[in-house]
Amino acid sequence: MPAPATIVHVALGSNEGDRHRHLQDAIDRLGLVPGIEVVRRSSFRESRFAGDGPAQPDYLNGVVELRTALPPLALLGVCKALEARAGRRLPAPGNHPRPLDLDVLFYGDECIDSRDLVVPHPRWHLREFVLEPLRELGVDVAARPRRAAPRVVEPPGEFAALCSTWLAGGCVVGLVPTMGALHDGHRSLLEIARRECDRVAATIFVNPLQFGPDEDFAAYPRDLAGDLRVCAAAGVDAVFAPSVAQMYDPGFCSHVAVGGAASGMEGALRADHFRGVATVVARLFALARPHRAYFGEKDAQQLAVIRRMTRDLGFPIHVVGCPIVREADGLAMSSRNVYLGPADRAASTVLHRALCSARAAFARGERGRDALIARVRAVLATEPRAAVDYVELRAEGDLAPLPPGPVDGGRLLVAARFTDGARPVRLLDNLSLVPGPLEP
Ligand code: PAJ
Repeated sequence: MPAPATIVHVALGSNEGDRHRHLQDAIDRLGLVPGIEVVRRSSFRESRFAGDGPAQPDYLNGVVELRTALPPLALLGVCKALEARAGRRLPAPGNHPRPLDLDVLFYGDECIDSRDLVVPHPRWHLREFVLEPLRELGVDVAARPRRAAPRVVEPPGEFAALCSTWLAGGCVVGLVPTMGALHDGHRSLLEIARRECDRVAATIFVNPLQFGPDEDFAAYPRDLAGDLRVCAAAGVDAVFAPSVAQMYDPGFCSHVAVGGAASGMEGALRADHFRGVATVVARLFALARPHRAYFGEKDAQQLAVIRRMTRDLGFPIHVVGCPIVREADGLAMSSRNVYLGPADRAASTVLHRALCSARAAFARGERGRDALIARVRAVLATEPRAAVDYVELRAEGDLAPLPPGPVDGGRLLVAARFTDGARPVRLLDNLSLVPGPLEP
């Protein structure tokens, strides 16, 4: 019995060489492939190059309608072979003129989201040079599915299914967990993930498990619309934004207990905070099963706890630490900075200044653990608005306590409270004594 035939639309483009011949050749050769029948083709039309980078010659574009028994990836293989035959260089060096570009727009009603093929084409509806030929072929473009970018998913099961589709399609999946109110610090994580992964999922969930009873869970800033704009601009594929009830059903009672790096500093001041962080992150890891997960060095203790938890529980996930993004005056970006009153905002730069002062002392040869800590405290003491919670010098990486005496490196961590604004704000900051490759 012959395989059932599927109607497929393929967009054609060329802006190098004999453009008309390249397009016509491609259509003729598609028709010669066993299992492919050319049903009809649109006329060819000129379109101006609209991509990024240096100007390019105008394109000639069209769309061909096929009936095919070939499975989607086999059809894609045919398209790639025809592009190569027309002289297209692969791997394509960025955005460059090309003798032939073939994009599978639709494959029947199928939705495919794999590393090599995304169907319907993610941007088909944004391109007039695709829409016009489709209309000419009688395709009801209003009725065809359009992909929202990013896709917003609320039920955990749906998020897990989406990530499974990506994994099954051979994609490297990156996960960026956040609590929303996204700023440039979060954006840097999204951008690093975008560069390193085929698919990027951001999660936006203000996690009640990591807030103490007297903490600011209810008042934590929330701005989903703004967050989606940030995610769209960063090229995020999906945003997982569940409700509390969706993440934790009424019978929820299993937690990840963490030790080691979770004790002291934030762990001493915020009972069960890291247990709540580790629990939600483990849950996100289990749902998404990403290859890579991105966390900021801004929360260095959290990063150390998550690295350890990932190892201890055996998640096959690469935890990527990302550098701290700061305001121009040195204040580390944080969702809570919006609550600083003007005087506290001005005073808040003292944290970074204090850390830098100790790093400068280290660079000049100071090696005493306590002398370096005293240096930080001395600068903090110049700012009466800062109520210091702790100043510590810990081992780089796992943040193990360092014994008194000389150190050959390490990370200074500080937390202080400011109480002048609408609500009290605790600020955290940290700095490696040895500047990282991306730090000024
Ligand atoms: P949130 O505070 O929203 O931070 C999300 C991620 O962004 C964390 O990995 C944090 O370290 C990173 N980040 C925040 N400010 C940054 C800055 N200025 N520069 C670089 N990275 C920065 O941390 C959490 O949420 C939660 O605890 C979470 C891990 C999502 C679990 O609920």
